[in-house]
Amino acid sequence: EQIEKAGYDHFMLKEIYEQPDAITDTYRGRMLVEEGIIRMAGVDDNMARIANAKRIIIVACGTSWHAGLVAEYIFEDLARIPVEVEYASEFRYRNPVISENDVVIAISQSGETADTMAAIKLAKEKGAFVFGVCNVVGSSISREAHAGAYTHAGPEIGVASTKAFTTQITVLTLMALKLAKHRGTISDSTFRFHLQELERIPAKITKVLEENDHIKIIAEKYKNSPNCLYLGRGYNFPVALEGALKLKEISYIHAEGYPAAEMKHGPIALIDESMPVVVIATSKGHYDKVVSNVQEIKARQGKIIGIVTEGDEAVRELADYVIEIPETIESLTPLLTTIPLQLLSYHIAVMLGKNVDQPRNLAKSVTVE
Ligand code: G6P
Repeated sequence: EQIEKAGYDHFMLKEIYEQPDAITDTYRGRMLVEEGIIRMAGVDDNMARIANAKRIIIVACGTSWHAGLVAEYIFEDLARIPVEVEYASEFRYRNPVISENDVVIAISQSGETADTMAAIKLAKEKGAFVFGVCNVVGSSISREAHAGAYTHAGPEIGVASTKAFTTQITVLTLMALKLAKHRGTISDSTFRFHLQELERIPAKITKVLEENDHIKIIAEKYKNSPNCLYLGRGYNFPVALEGALKLKEISYIHAEGYPAAEMKHGPIALIDESMPVVVIATSKGHYDKVVSNVQEIKARQGKIIGIVTEGDEAVRELADYVIEIPETIESLTPLLTTIPLQLLSYHIAVMLGKNVDQPRNLAKSVTVE
């Protein structure tokens, strides 16, 4: 096992650090930047069916569901196809309206999650086209789907998902871009710019990983907090949910993710000097509005950890700590903002002496209901 961990203390840390390579493996061979082409066999072979979908329904569980929420923003924004994101466990039992014009995308790292499998069987029965996004090659869901795309993240051992999440977002981004190009909802220059920016993401993640020591200091400061709130807007709202899930899963600290603007409808009541609030406030995601949220937290003595774009000034002035990420296009920011949140949870859990790779009560692959 020590050999498999390749010098890292835990699989989770190794997998966090593998993300630049994992994402490169995800787009390698699919994205031809110079030519301005995306090749994905599962999409190319079924283009008419997928690109003419009246609606895309994404079904998944856990972290994969969060990747689905990010994908909702990307598909609607770029490809202009309406998207619904469903917990597979709810979808399968609520007599959903599904038609032959729907495309169901099932996202699953393991490809074995029972609820996700049941959801796609139901969708198939009702005539929908099912596209699988799985990491494990040959897994049950990848075989049950009509078509699909693998994430190629390599084996993920840590129960808390890290590189599976960012590679799922990468595959879904490629798919959305491809559909957008086919449907004519994106200009050629914007399409090419996305490819160029996506190609730069691995190096930018490497840069975020260099913040590790700084993130450790923040972890030390807040490791004994019983609660933590995560806020984000737009593309980074699902990242806030995922950040909170990571902390819960491995450190057993109660954490909640919220859309920043919803803070005033509840969570603001919880804010006092003992509440750390992680706010994702990147420059392009409704920045000014998020800065107002930060001011509201500050006014209530909440502790602020800002995830900001390099060169940020307004949040830095108000926050207790900031973690900078390099600039990129808004739709790609989740691939960067997720990284410090993974590291923050990891360090807190290690400092608290928790079993990071195998947290209590959780399983890597949930093959029962
Ligand atoms: C379990 C794992 C999570 C994962 C979820 C969905 O709860 O602990 O990390 O996100 O299942 O798994 P899947 O393999 O379908 O992505």
